Amino acid sequence: MSSNKRTPIYEGKAKQIFEGPEPGTLIAHFKDDATAFNNQKKGQIRGKGVINNKISEYLMLRLSEIGIPNHFIRTLNMREQLIRAVEIVPLEVIVRNVAAGSFAKRFGVPEGSALRMPIVEFCLKNDELGDPFVTEDHIFSFDIADPMEVDDIRLMSMRINDFMNGLFRGVGLRLIDFKIEFGRIYDEEGRSKIILADEISPDSCRLWDVTTGEKLDKDRFRQDMGGVEEAYQEVAKRLGVLPSAHIAELDDKRVES
Ligand code: TMP
Repeated sequence: MSSNKRTPIYEGKAKQIFEGPEPGTLIAHFKDDATAFNNQKKGQIRGKGVINNKISEYLMLRLSEIGIPNHFIRTLNMREQLIRAVEIVPLEVIVRNVAAGSFAKRFGVPEGSALRMPIVEFCLKNDELGDPFVTEDHIFSFDIADPMEVDDIRLMSMRINDFMNGLFRGVGLRLIDFKIEFGRIYDEEGRSKIILADEISPDSCRLWDVTTGEKLDKDRFRQDMGGVEEAYQEVAKRLGVLPSAHIAELDDKRVES
């Protein structure tokens, strides 16, 4: 099915969403487009869509195995996956293990300081407002989620953090922080349930090499550090998910140049 025959539902900064083949499903198409600082910096990271599709698939499958419900159904092709349609909870949930990024800046904590305990932060998912920080009071008052849902989100976020810390550590990476999103699905009786949605990839995580401290994530793009494509490939390689066709494509390009 070519992408121009499908019904587009939504276009985000890094993904495009199309109508799925069955009711209750959607197709997520992972683009190479990258943005930072709320869309002020724009660029492309060659091969990012292919790699993030693979990494996100891998992580969602591992998380399913430990009982974290999520929207992933199956991979369709190099850049696309079939997902469950959810009602997105408009929150960016950030979990931090080590001070970095906006946290280091806001609180004047040196980048790289380990936090005494993981910190969960909530931001409203709203680009026009610059994703402002919100507390649980804002979340309840604005009817974004109810207290039981926020409990679920917190518990799942901490569990995801514990699991991913170990998983990345096993391949020589330190999970500094990450951002996740959640959505609601409904059963026949209209009861809702919170599940993990969106993606988990080097776009939405900070990952540093355990030994050298080298940054292997989107900070290389944000901070113009170079070696962006290589960093994404390295994470995929360490997780054992770099698609062989993609390696072949990159090798072809190397031969041509
Ligand atoms: P921050 O330190 O810039 O607030 O970012 C915290 C984490 O969230 C980091 O792993 C990058 C990720 N993130 C996103 O995925 N999307 C965003 O829009 C922002 C600001 C951060």
